[in-house]
Amino acid sequence: SLKGLDLKAEIDKLRKERNAVILAHYYQTPDIQDLADFVGDSLDLSAKAAATDADVIAFCGVRFMAEVAKILSPDKTVILPDMNAGCSLEDSCPPEQFAAFRAAHPDHIALTYINCSAAVKAHSDIIVTSSSAERILAQLPMDQKIIFAPDKNLGAWFNRKTGRDMLLWPGACIVHEAFSETELLKLKAQYPDAPIAAHPECPAFILDHADEVGSTRAILDFALSTDADTIIVATEPHIIHQMEKAAPHKLFIGAPGADGNCNCNMCPYMAMNTMEKLYVALRDMEPRIELDEATRLAAKKPLDRMLEMAG
Ligand code: 13P
Ligand code: SF4
Repeated sequence: SLKGLDLKAEIDKLRKERNAVILAHYYQTPDIQDLADFVGDSLDLSAKAAATDADVIAFCGVRFMAEVAKILSPDKTVILPDMNAGCSLEDSCPPEQFAAFRAAHPDHIALTYINCSAAVKAHSDIIVTSSSAERILAQLPMDQKIIFAPDKNLGAWFNRKTGRDMLLWPGACIVHEAFSETELLKLKAQYPDAPIAAHPECPAFILDHADEVGSTRAILDFALSTDADTIIVATEPHIIHQMEKAAPHKLFIGAPGADGNCNCNMCPYMAMNTMEKLYVALRDMEPRIELDEATRLAAKKPLDRMLEMAG
């Protein structure tokens, strides 16, 4: 039994013994964020995973993120506290159907959001994250035909921002789809001076009310740099932990779902990782990410292009 163990101390001990680096996404619980060596958005975490000289990467995020770490650092052992930590966007884009979609549009290139399986990456030309997509699109000719998968909200947002007409795969994130426009407007009426910072995985009916739209890191930067002392945050609410730590005098309010609070906007996949499972993963060195080499190499190409183009 793990009862009575000082998990934080045990994790610290194992991290040293194993020469492990603990990477965490902003959607992880505060205890995990606080003990991680690095907390970041998807692009930062990919770059960190590619650059680390640790022997082991303990990835506290969802499976596709840990897969990216393995794709970029194949000689390292990559462990994920819970192998069932998937993603609704990944689920919305099965590789065979994606391959058929590609084949049906041979004159298009496939620009693919990093929130997908390694097999879907393997069928893609360039991977993007919400923080790199705009920079990458700016380097592609305006008449370039593009299919964008799997997030239709993110794709529609970048179409709108860049004046493009990318063909969109109909996927969505269950977390960002759960925000309620009615409840958001009620909250805004209560705090009329509070700017709204939203993730581009939100539907247009939420983004239309946003003062800032960007990746988790962009939302965090905005929340800390704005003069406003109250900020409404329309993304997974665990990121508020970093905001409260850095600016304890400000008020950060998670955007509400239909029930009027932000509890329904917790990511159930991210929540599968716990301190207990992180400890066990570091102790037993599993579950491990394993990829077949052909898929890994094919998936690495569009990821490398992203890292190059995102500069
Ligand atoms: P970013 O951290 O890149 O904004 O990604 C958000 C997200 O939904 C990750 O699953
Ligand atoms: Fe996937 Fe959405 Fe959870 Fe991110 S928040 S991991 S996109 S389900």
